[in-house]
Amino acid sequence: MTMTTGIRHLLSVADLSPAEVEAMLRRAAELKVAPAPQVLSGRTVALVFEKPSLRTRVSFDVAIHQLGGHALYLGRDEVGMGVREPVSDTARILSRYVDAIVVRTFAQATLETLARYSSVPVINALSDAEHPCQALADLLTIQEHKGRINGVNVAYIGDGNNCAVSLGIAAASIGAHFSIASPAGYELPDAAVEETRRRGALTGAQVTLTDSPQQAVAGADVVYTDVWTSMGQEAESELRRQAFRGFRVDADLMALAGDGALFMHPLPAHPGEEIAEGMLEHPQSVVFVQAENRLHVQRAILAELFAAEA
Ligand code: CP
Ligand code: NVA
Repeated sequence: MTMTTGIRHLLSVADLSPAEVEAMLRRAAELKVAPAPQVLSGRTVALVFEKPSLRTRVSFDVAIHQLGGHALYLGRDEVGMGVREPVSDTARILSRYVDAIVVRTFAQATLETLARYSSVPVINALSDAEHPCQALADLLTIQEHKGRINGVNVAYIGDGNNCAVSLGIAAASIGAHFSIASPAGYELPDAAVEETRRRGALTGAQVTLTDSPQQAVAGADVVYTDVWTSMGQEAESELRRQAFRGFRVDADLMALAGDGALFMHPLPAHPGEEIAEGMLEHPQSVVFVQAENRLHVQRAILAELFAAEA
């Protein structure tokens, strides 16, 4: 995880070494079936959310409660980060009251500023650039259903967005091959491709970029997609609907991957856009386990952050 003056932050999946990604997944699998360690007893974790959320907000709140701590939800209007006062001040004030700050924000730069000025750990609960907690839950789900991650072929169809970036880096960290099919102009950012390839070179994972969903899903063990228009991009939604035509995951595309492939989506989904109606209920869909695994992975993240101090 990123260190500022000895404090560990999780702003990007790349803040975890490949060995740490693997260890975090092991811990999450253990905690899924074990009583939660009371590492947050007497502690408070702030949930600072500038965007809406169901899964992330509720699973963090429940995880914090299960670990013996108190969750303090602060919505956009309460804090007014960068509006009511500078982000640097929010960090310096909040970290005098709470023991960790979980943040959902529009800009990765906000997370970086918070981490720079905070004296407690900062965890990315989704930004424009990354969604690390989601990617770890995705890998845990793949591990559970496929019995391994190393050597698994993950095909991502659609926008090279926050979820795609974190998933690619996390997958390559454990040796899963990552193929991404995106329309021109919506590819994975260069820096993410570079980091994914760098990790892939260490683990044997191949990274393939294409504009053909059919090519990406050939031989895939996992077919993954996410929304065409992420939160904060609403003004582009019509343009995106045009650009992503042909990038919808439906039963025909799943059939190209084969019977053993998993269908995954971080949710919320938009049937009729990135997925056909009924895909969440497709026999190969694991989306609800994937959503549940957010809880187990986030318990592991918090348990690891506070284990040494408990
Ligand atoms: N997948 C996910 O992060 O969902 P929410 O936006 O509901 O938190
Ligand atoms: N890419 C989506 C993910 C939501 C969980 C978004 O950022 O809106």
